[in-house]
Amino acid sequence: MTDTASPDTRQRDADDAGLAPTHGRPYGSVAVAGVPAPDSNSLRDPQDRRLPRIAGPCGLIIFGVTGDLARKKLLPAVYDLANRGLLPPGFALVGFARRDWANQDFEQIVHDAVKEHARTPFREEVWKQLKEGCRFVPGELGDDASFERLRATIEDLDRERGTNGNHAFYLSVPPRMFPVTIRQLKEHGLADQSPRHWRRVVVEKPFGHDLQSARELNRIVSEVFPPEAVFRIDHYLGKETVQNILALRFANQLYEPVWNANYVDHVQITMAEDIGIEGRAGYYDGIGAARDVIQNHLLQLLALNAMEEPVSFDAKSLRIEKQKVLAAVQLPRRLDLHTARGQYAEGWAGGVKVPGYLGEEGIPADSRTETYAAIKLEIDTRRWAGVPFYLRTGKRLARRVTEVGVVFKRAPHLPFAETATEELGHNTLVMRIQPDEGITLRFGSKVPGSQMEIRDVTMDFAYGGAFTESSPEAYERLILDVLLGEPPLFPRHEEVELSWQILDPIVNYWAEHDKPDQYPAGTWGPASANEMLARDGRTWRRP
Ligand code: BG6
Repeated sequence: MTDTASPDTRQRDADDAGLAPTHGRPYGSVAVAGVPAPDSNSLRDPQDRRLPRIAGPCGLIIFGVTGDLARKKLLPAVYDLANRGLLPPGFALVGFARRDWANQDFEQIVHDAVKEHARTPFREEVWKQLKEGCRFVPGELGDDASFERLRATIEDLDRERGTNGNHAFYLSVPPRMFPVTIRQLKEHGLADQSPRHWRRVVVEKPFGHDLQSARELNRIVSEVFPPEAVFRIDHYLGKETVQNILALRFANQLYEPVWNANYVDHVQITMAEDIGIEGRAGYYDGIGAARDVIQNHLLQLLALNAMEEPVSFDAKSLRIEKQKVLAAVQLPRRLDLHTARGQYAEGWAGGVKVPGYLGEEGIPADSRTETYAAIKLEIDTRRWAGVPFYLRTGKRLARRVTEVGVVFKRAPHLPFAETATEELGHNTLVMRIQPDEGITLRFGSKVPGSQMEIRDVTMDFAYGGAFTESSPEAYERLILDVLLGEPPLFPRHEEVELSWQILDPIVNYWAEHDKPDQYPAGTWGPASANEMLARDGRTWRRP
């Protein structure tokens, strides 16, 4: 999504032209699935955005490498990047965790994670090259000796693998450990910036649990790293279908004229999951659905759908537009009537009986944490005045689906007999974020026959049918962008703060009022969420 070449991109082009030391062949120099072999890049035109972008010499250090996120997403994404030929020769992967492991043990962990979760096929030669750059540093985040070992490891890698002092530190640790990790990086000279190398920090969500703690976290991070070295992960922004929202809106003439309050009745943004909390009681309880995903993923989806056209797709221009729209978001005056929350009770998922939230391991019997949240927001701008944006998310719902439904107003006049249009709904454009990625347009069509009868039909675009390449995982894109130093897909702290500003009054209101309503697992959430829409004369879409 960038238009401008970052310093790293230029460095990379220099590297591609053979100006930097090389340490073996680039990864995956055997071409995979439609990706040209990276050796051909010495001939590339740096302005041609269709060519693969390859990171320059660097290392990635993952704190909390034994966690679920690392195993299921980060390590497989690193391998997939290597397999696609997008990592530099000599790339280094360092794991840091409280385990008594040697490098070989870590290699085995990475190997197993890759075998189980990687998107692209396992290729022995790619794995062998990746393995050569794997190191493990056993240690505690608060322990100086551990960080000295990390520093020594990084210096060795710079010498042995040519990582040239360029390193990204990925904080895949519980948020309470962010401050100590960042302080240690500073104290051990690992955060030092220099014109000769870069140091970056990647911060996983949650960025705080309210506005105040987000500001505090930002203060801590910004004391150590300059803004351009901080990459906050909202993995939804790494999804192809989310980036496609901007393509749909701004690469086409068709939608923009109707993308406003004159034509749009309302917008529904849904992120439904069929899974429960999957053993994450420690993280989830006390956080709940709204803080877990509305504050970040759903408000980012709202911003991308509602913002004005940016002057370019560089990070600054995008941020300006997203901030403007988030700053214009208005809460309903009656939070009791226009928000809803729920907690799943015992029920069914995939034909199996599953426990309710309160019966999950590690959840206190009196927990009031919501596992379902729905809110109505409005946007105080000329474009969106009076158009409600309904956001909802929940665990243990009927199926896994994330989508944005733009529901249009009815035609002002229908020159048909009333009975002819009984089955005509609202024209709707649905951006199917996942699964079954694509776009659906729903509109009225004549039912074949001698009568004029009109019924809704759909026109579908499916990624699977239109493109031969499968979409990269969000974390592949985001890790690559960190290594390239390209920031457009990473929210800045201003956006994060504005999102907390929107959410804080709602979660505070909930904390003071009653308990969440129960809904059986495997259904579409609590009755109160349906009543919330019924008050406005609307219903939730059934995706
Ligand atoms: C994470 C949330 O950010 O997103 C999880 O913390 C949620 O609770 C996950 O399950 C969903 O991600 P995806 O990509 O599967 O929609």
